[in-house]
Amino acid sequence: MTDAAHQTPIVRLAPAKLNLTLAVVGRRADGFHDLHSVFVPLALHDVLTVAPAGTAGPDSLHVTGMDAGPLEENLVLRAIAAARTAIGQGPGRPTTPPLAVRLEKRIPVAAGLGGGSSDAAAAIDASLEAWGASEALDPARRHAVAASVGSDAPFFLAGNPALVEGRGERITPLTGIHGQPGILLVTPAVAVRTPDVFAVFDGSHAGTGGDGSVRMTSAHLAQELGNGLSATDLIARAGVLASANDLMAAAALVAPGLVQLRRALTRVLGRPIGLSGSGPTLWTLYPSLGEAEGAAVTVEAAIADGSIPSIGDGPASIIPTTIRTRQEEAST
Ligand code: C5P
Repeated sequence: MTDAAHQTPIVRLAPAKLNLTLAVVGRRADGFHDLHSVFVPLALHDVLTVAPAGTAGPDSLHVTGMDAGPLEENLVLRAIAAARTAIGQGPGRPTTPPLAVRLEKRIPVAAGLGGGSSDAAAAIDASLEAWGASEALDPARRHAVAASVGSDAPFFLAGNPALVEGRGERITPLTGIHGQPGILLVTPAVAVRTPDVFAVFDGSHAGTGGDGSVRMTSAHLAQELGNGLSATDLIARAGVLASANDLMAAAALVAPGLVQLRRALTRVLGRPIGLSGSGPTLWTLYPSLGEAEGAAVTVEAAIADGSIPSIGDGPASIIPTTIRTRQEEAST
């Protein structure tokens, strides 16, 4: 064993992500797509608590908060199993006893916010610590374990603003944003499966990527965030960023009503509305969290009076948050 196994629970905050840009560069031989995307972590997060189970048997997972779907599909248990396999067993290897995991779900599920992948990355980190095995996997092997669980998971191991390329495994950290812009997230209760969105995209692009304009915007933003961009300058670019997602048209076909919802939000909020990942979460940028909170109240009222359509099987999640900053990471 490399260091002492923990008996006390280990708590990790698993942040959501937002894609400020998402260019599809092309389809790969393995069926995945090469991307060029600027990811930023958000203050919105799930909370993962990991402790040794103290009994024989499988790892267990107890989820509270938002509906996270079937337990057997949860990436947390898959991530722990993958970490255990990567460590291996045998003389001199850390033991990897069963773990009891609690997950407080605050990030809407299957929403384009990366919640499942973030939980998985946090689970890899926390389980290694619980086993006293933090040194057992070097960063490259940790990265490989994360990539095996989900395309977005490697980004969350560091959780800093980054240019994400390839299938999601090539991460270039970016200086990011100075200041703390507010973000309003509106996630309609419409099931959007990522593979369906990519399949519709492929159907209209014959195996090629987008037309290159989103890629140019993405490269430009990555360069700017590499040097550090003020919140004011980021918001000045909101109009361009809100249309810098090659999956927008495909997501609109998979999620009925998304176009009408986006149009209504644009009208009511008077700001550009973007799409995160493969959707269906729509986002708007604000100079501060307070203004995003004000916009959330406006959207709630507009849905109640019918001026924003209610789409999907239930109420939309309307969540004001901020881009997670380095100062905030240090204080949490
Ligand atoms: O890796 P993950 O399970 O998150 O991917 C879900 C699905 O999204 C994949 O099965 C694939 O259809 C699609 N995908 C893709 N290219 C990526 C990431 C995801 O085609 N870079």
